[in-house]
Amino acid sequence: MSDLPETFDDAFRISERSEWLRRAFPPLLDADLPAEVEPFSFVPSSGLEEISSAVRVGPGGLVVDVACGRGGPGMWVARRVGAALCGVDGSTIAVAAATRRRAAFGPGLDARFVVGDLAATGLADGVADAVMCVDAFQFAEDHDLVARELHRVLRPGGRLVLTCWEARERGDTAVADRFADLRCGEVLRDNGFTDVDVTERPAWEQRRRAVYEAALGAGPSEDPGLALMRTEAGTALGQMSRIRRVLITAAKPA
Ligand SMILES: C[S@@+](CC[C@H](N)C(=O)[O-])C[C@H]1O[C@@H](n2cnc3c(N)ncnc32)[C@H](O)[C@@H]1O
Repeated sequence: MSDLPETFDDAFRISERSEWLRRAFPPLLDADLPAEVEPFSFVPSSGLEEISSAVRVGPGGLVVDVACGRGGPGMWVARRVGAALCGVDGSTIAVAAATRRRAAFGPGLDARFVVGDLAATGLADGVADAVMCVDAFQFAEDHDLVARELHRVLRPGGRLVLTCWEARERGDTAVADRFADLRCGEVLRDNGFTDVDVTERPAWEQRRRAVYEAALGAGPSEDPGLALMRTEAGTALGQMSRIRRVLITAAKPA
């Protein structure tokens, strides 16, 4: 783990210097993924389609993408459903990249990006018709606080869509701490969400495995993003059978 960057700002700085992350990673994750998405996550295009349906938002609505990274998955979903987007992320580097990358999604997309925390987005109460959060809930220091924040920014009747991972066996000490005790559905129910549905997406994990194996199998390279992926693969591959990939949908009561 010592080779991993210490902060997401560092990771995003590395990504800006990485041809491998920009060009090789997306088609390894999913050959159908539109180039402009440039995800910093492991959700294939079928997953983005699922998120687009699950947010239940259309033209005139606002999707808030919490921990949006460089904004691609959120902009893809907002463009797909014809909604506006507000992305929030703790990394100033990611927010700047997301803002720069807006043009890649065409002039019709109303998208803005702000710096904020998972637990303190800075957004107004009830502003969001839907909230999405891709591959980031596990990084929360306090999951209850984050769940309450997501609930607060949603309008009554609004939908939440999360993607995450959880240990198959609760408390499994062989998996990374951030997944060991995490039960996303429980956290959401405990903090006012209803209609909570947690489903496993093993096919997404096959894609993640393919990325890791390709990274480890690639030849000698100076690319810093490939080095980052190899380091992650070295830890993650051994844990994958003990972890389940989850898509979670929930609602704020009307
Ligand atoms: C794996 S990346 C996913 C980014 C984006 N959702 C995507 O799919 O490309 C995790 C993101 O969570 C953000 N993040 C982690 N902890 C955070 C926190 N406490 N507050 C806000 N953002 C956070 C990171 O900056 C990073 O952009």
